[in-house]
Amino acid sequence: MDREDLDRMAGELPPAEASCSQAATHDVPVVSICITCKTADGILVGPDLFEAVKAAADRMGADVQLRRVQCLSVCKRPTTVAVSSSGGYTFLFGDLQVEAADDLLSFVQAYQGADYGLVPWRQRAEVLRKGIVARIPPSRWSPDDGSAPK
Ligand code: FES
Repeated sequence: MDREDLDRMAGELPPAEASCSQAATHDVPVVSICITCKTADGILVGPDLFEAVKAAADRMGADVQLRRVQCLSVCKRPTTVAVSSSGGYTFLFGDLQVEAADDLLSFVQAYQGADYGLVPWRQRAEVLRKGIVARIPPSRWSPDDGSAPK
């Protein structure tokens, strides 16, 4: 079983199995967009994605904190974006182009309503399924068996 299978399994847990006290992430998600990402040809692309996501957030009225960051150490998969919150998973995505802005914001909105921000795999846009680099459990949650929340 690879990480994609585990991610898919966790994302497909029925809501009743995935819920527990204070499980939903009610804090504002932080979307960190790498503004130093460049294509293999050396073209700076991060700032364009930041502006596209900002425009999408304004248009959609998204309750989100956007921030520019310099390098998320996934430089070979521009543009790289992290979605995090104090009580939720941190998701790291790569290969995002400006066209992914709406899908990313839709993910963030689902993240806010999901227990620990663990958006089911089937609810993620294709570009985010393909672009997933990592999911990191919240620091305050640490079951002995390392499984996803139940
Ligand atoms: S320059 Fe964007 S992840 Fe390193």
